[in-house]
Amino acid sequence: MSIAYFNGEYLPLDAVRISPLDRGFLFGDSVYEVIPSYGGHFFLLDQHLQRLTRSLAAIRLPSPYGPTQWRERLDGLLQRNADPATPDLGIYLQVTRGVAPRDHAFPGEVRPTVLAMVSPIRPLPATTRRQGIAAVTAPDQRWARCDIKATTLLANVLARQAATEQGAQEAILLRDGHVTEGAASNAFAVLEGVVVTPPLTATVLPGVTRSLVLDLARNAGYPVCERDLAASELQRADEIWLTSSTREVLPVTRLDDHPVADGRPGPVWQQIHAAYQHAKSEAHTSASMLPPEGM
Ligand SMILES: Cc1ncc(COP(=O)(O)O)c(C=O)c1O
Repeated sequence: MSIAYFNGEYLPLDAVRISPLDRGFLFGDSVYEVIPSYGGHFFLLDQHLQRLTRSLAAIRLPSPYGPTQWRERLDGLLQRNADPATPDLGIYLQVTRGVAPRDHAFPGEVRPTVLAMVSPIRPLPATTRRQGIAAVTAPDQRWARCDIKATTLLANVLARQAATEQGAQEAILLRDGHVTEGAASNAFAVLEGVVVTPPLTATVLPGVTRSLVLDLARNAGYPVCERDLAASELQRADEIWLTSSTREVLPVTRLDDHPVADGRPGPVWQQIHAAYQHAKSEAHTSASMLPPEGM
């Protein structure tokens, strides 16, 4: 059983008890992060903590901890879950507005609930590297503030389930004829040598991986364009990718049951994937863990 962090304590995940009056449970009144770690080192932790701060501010929930306290707590979690069999872990971190009698308006005095738990990140399977993944397009039925990493994910769940039922691994969401993002990922297309991704508006999560991938593409010399991406452009894209912290950069080779270009992961993806693996290993060798607590 893995160890979780819950309101100031480390305990086995199955010993965590969450109140039925928790506003995260009742209203989805909460935000979250998913932070990857490789070989015991966080990857892009500062960027994830900055986005957490932004999400908390957007829902007017004072952050229970500052950046150093978050780091200490998350480092403690990684150390307690260290296991050579699963060197790479994703940390799921959720902050809810806390426990109070059920009423939509914010309660007066309430302590936020903080939960962090881990799950293994598996390397990209060789078949995915060779063959890519299938995706389907689906209507974007989410709310108007998708830039907040809120736990109210029902529309994302339904879109991902629709994709799964069609034998695909992700749904690419369309709003007003344009791509917003994936059900749990950001979307990219390569069109005539240009790496295109939708701009950061209220309908797109500012993905940490998205930002790194844009930098990697620029550094590799590709023109990069953050602009509206029409659904019709996906049909003639040379490459389509989906990015997220745990699935990294995935090449989409089938869309709505049609091959994307020649149906194989493209050369730009190959290069960006390699650059991403390099960035991970660099962070691993240059990162220094905080000393264990008490030192
Ligand atoms: C809706 C949505 N968009 C984009 C992303 C990718 O964000 P990141 O790269 O920060 O993991 C996620 C990740 O879960 C997501 O849920």
